[in-house]
Amino acid sequence: MFKPLATQQTLDYEYYGLMAATWDLLRGDTSNWPDRAYFRDLIRMCGQPALIVGSGTGRLLLDYLEFGLDVDGVDCSPEMLAVCEKKAHALGLEPTLYLQDFQHLELPRQYETIIVPSQNFQLLTNNDDAIEAMRSFYRHLRPGGTLAISFMNNSADEPNNLIYNTEWDLIAEALQPDGTLVRRWSRSTFDNINQLEHTEDRYEILEAGDIIHTEDHTRSPGARWYTPQQAQSIFEALGLKDIRPQRKFSFEFVEDNEWLFTVTGRRGS
Ligand SMILES: C[S@@+](CC[C@H](N)C(=O)[O-])C[C@H]1O[C@@H](n2cnc3c(N)ncnc32)[C@H](O)[C@@H]1O
Repeated sequence: MFKPLATQQTLDYEYYGLMAATWDLLRGDTSNWPDRAYFRDLIRMCGQPALIVGSGTGRLLLDYLEFGLDVDGVDCSPEMLAVCEKKAHALGLEPTLYLQDFQHLELPRQYETIIVPSQNFQLLTNNDDAIEAMRSFYRHLRPGGTLAISFMNNSADEPNNLIYNTEWDLIAEALQPDGTLVRRWSRSTFDNINQLEHTEDRYEILEAGDIIHTEDHTRSPGARWYTPQQAQSIFEALGLKDIRPQRKFSFEFVEDNEWLFTVTGRRGS
């Protein structure tokens, strides 16, 4: 069982219901996703133990445990963690998982490497929460330990409109084991002035072509994006050293107009 909250704190979590229950099914095979090898190499280079922040249903975590790496996970969704545990047991793994939010981590050990994958950091849309989370990561780094955060920069592809809406888009659909079809639709409003994305997701369950259930998820705002320069400055504000903004999931230096990048930085010894 994942380690529950130590305090009376309650968590407002977005990944519930059909979003959690169909997360893996609707994503399909993720084994070729480029962050998988990148973060595994980073842990090997920067050291263990490692922490995956926003470990979700265990895409990276279970994979790395199978590789024999010493990795823990933390997430604020009990439903995502429950899926992760079920998959772990099927694989004969015993992951150490914590139910906590990024801003208030209180974990029993410090880490050589802390990874925030999948642009999870951008789900903290409030500036104070983002600062609290960065401090929280810093406290859990061992001296000399490395923090790595992946970011998406929507300003890189800035359209003419500063605020614009997308149409409903069918993101994925898949057959469930009970024979019903599940679909996920999404649409967003991009506010390029404030670098905020407002998101709506609709899940539908269909039986013999008829919609028998829908579930809506709205987050406004749902995500905040950063340019490489902005991301670098939040690492600097924390006093991290050897800060390296890198292109996508490579060890190459990033241009400021890159839309997907990872920043790494080291806590002083
Ligand atoms: C986009 S999913 C990615 C999950 C996983 N990294 C993957 O690639 O499958 C984001 C995850 O971060 C978690 N999360 C979002 N905000 C959080 C917060 N403030 N504290 C802890 N976990 C959070 C969600 O519950 C969800 O499991």
